[in-house]
Amino acid sequence: MVGRMARVSPASFISPSPIQPWTGRELAGLAVAAATDARRWRHLIEFDENERFALKIDETDEHDLWLLTWLPEQETGWHDHGGSIGAFAIARGALCERRFVRGRGRQELRLGPGGSRIVPDPVLHNVANRDGARAISLHAYSPPLRTMTYFDEKQNVQQVADVRVPGARTC
Ligand SMILES: [Fe+2]
Repeated sequence: MVGRMARVSPASFISPSPIQPWTGRELAGLAVAAATDARRWRHLIEFDENERFALKIDETDEHDLWLLTWLPEQETGWHDHGGSIGAFAIARGALCERRFVRGRGRQELRLGPGGSRIVPDPVLHNVANRDGARAISLHAYSPPLRTMTYFDEKQNVQQVADVRVPGARTC
C-alpha cells in the first residue's frame, strides 16, 4: 500500500522576509524630516502637566515614530529602549540629553531646534526640558519600541526601577 503524500504548496517554502532594522542615521533622517513637517503633527499637540505627552503617529514592521511634548522641567528619567535603536529631533524649544555609556561614563548635550541625536543600543539616557519654554520633539525607533526599562538615578543608574510598555495613547 502506498501511503498518502502530504501536498506541500510552494508558498510553504517561502518564509516571511526578515525585518531589516533601520540604522541610526536613517532614523535620524526620519525624525528630522518629521520635525520639520509640522503639518504631520500640529493638530495632535497636547501638553500635559501630569504626564509627559507621548503619541505614536506612525508605525511599520520596521520602525515607529512618536510625537513628544515637554513642559519646562518634564523629563523621561533614565531608561533604555528595550533593544531598539532610536533617534530624535527637536521641532520646537530645546532639550537636554544626559547619556550613560558603560565604560565611558556620562555625557550631556543640549539640543536646540533642528538638532538631532542618534541613540544606539545599548545606551541609557535621560532627556529633559531645562529651558523654561515648551518643547516639541519627534522620536523614531527600529524595531518599533516595545519596552522601556527605567533605572534608578539614586543607585547610579545601575538598578532597574521600572519596566514599561510605551504607547498607551496612539492614533
Ligand atoms: Fe529614550
